[in-house]
Amino acid sequence: MSRRLGIGLLGVGWMGSLHTRSLRRLPDHYPDLATGCDFVVAADPSPGGRRRAVEELGYERAEQDWRAVVEDPRVDLVSVTAPNAFHREMSLAVIHAGKALWVEKPVGRGVAETAEVAGAAARAATISAVGFNYRNVPLVEHAVALIARGTIGRLTGFRGWFLGDYASNPWGPLNWRFSRAGAGSGALGDLMCHVVDLAATLVGPLQEVVASTDVVVPRRPLPTAGDEHFSTLDSPVEPPGDDVPTGPVENEDSARALVRFTGGASGFLEVGRAVVGPHCSLGFEVYGSAGSLRWDFERMNEMGLYRADTPGDAGYRRVLARPGHGEYGRFQPGPAIAMGFDDLKVVEAARLVRAVVSAEKCTPGLPEALAAARALDAMERSALSRAWEPVG
Ligand SMILES: NC(=O)c1ccc[n+]([C@@H]2O[C@H](COP(=O)([O-])OP(=O)(O)OC[C@H]3O[C@@H](n4cnc5c(N)ncnc54)[C@H](O)[C@@H]3O)[C@@H](O)[C@H]2O)c1
Repeated sequence: MSRRLGIGLLGVGWMGSLHTRSLRRLPDHYPDLATGCDFVVAADPSPGGRRRAVEELGYERAEQDWRAVVEDPRVDLVSVTAPNAFHREMSLAVIHAGKALWVEKPVGRGVAETAEVAGAAARAATISAVGFNYRNVPLVEHAVALIARGTIGRLTGFRGWFLGDYASNPWGPLNWRFSRAGAGSGALGDLMCHVVDLAATLVGPLQEVVASTDVVVPRRPLPTAGDEHFSTLDSPVEPPGDDVPTGPVENEDSARALVRFTGGASGFLEVGRAVVGPHCSLGFEVYGSAGSLRWDFERMNEMGLYRADTPGDAGYRRVLARPGHGEYGRFQPGPAIAMGFDDLKVVEAARLVRAVVSAEKCTPGLPEALAAARALDAMERSALSRAWEPVG
């Protein structure tokens, strides 16, 4: 029997558009879900966002005030894709309205806000999904399966990184991402949350960390129009004149952390948003007593697998994504026909909608977001104390 879900959207930017397009693609990739979506109402304070919602994304109407979306009785599931500063208040309203919640990372500007949302959702038995989309990479899921099968033996070490250049241009505007009030932390909340989530998924819970953080570009021009996310050094951002007003960057551009896992492995995690060279290099190496794995999102559909039990031919084997790895078979019929970033959100949408329809838990949800927030909090504490800090 088919069922229809009413969708509401809070924030019609990059992620808001992608959440919507992912839900719209479900019948193509997950016909067995037998669930259709009605795109009921979106909210955005900007007229351009509201126009996009109706004309390009197909919402029946768009509102200036996000509360109208949460209160609409036809809405069953709400995507929270506004800037970080709004996630707590919007998520709590969705939870209290008894609707399903799809919220982008970071869920809160720090551990207190995240814990408040996670606690409210647990009490209300809210079905929630959080935007840890890199878990849905077929080869990441394959890596998890290989580790569980003992292919690389007992885990001893982990190296994880997310190095990007979206803020590498020092003339890029001082948008909400660079303010404590707008974003909370900087590269930690934006990029390290993905790294610690992958670390926990592949290796297990983090126990303690010692970390340092840096600001690479201390001042930026105040924004004039728009709110560009990507201002890379090779993008056409005009250098402003000498008299352009600037403001301080209030959160870190980069962070590095040593980490110990509860299972005994240790690791090194590194993130940067103003790095010149890597564009979107999110990756990991996992070392075990019998082999190792390495993967980078810039080459999402291939992974290196080293096994010590191939005498005479030691070296990394190039494993290409294929049906049987995670959800790959939902998208491509044969090996090495590359999937892309947007497909990962379709997988996320499918897992959430399946959970809503069956009233079951969706993973990763708010408990996993809280675990990540605790690790980031320990890193912030350590950067101040200059000492090892426990996670949680
Ligand atoms: N999971 C991922 O890989 C990923 C990638 C990018 C961004 N994100 C997260 O998604 C969120 C949004 O990022 P983005 O890149 O889409 O930003 P964006 O700037 O492209 O879009 C944000 C939108 O929210 C709107 N907005 C601002 N205030 C609002 C309010 N009060 N009510 C409703 N809408 C409001 C803005 O007008 C804008 O249209 C952030 O929390 C970010 O961390 C996640």
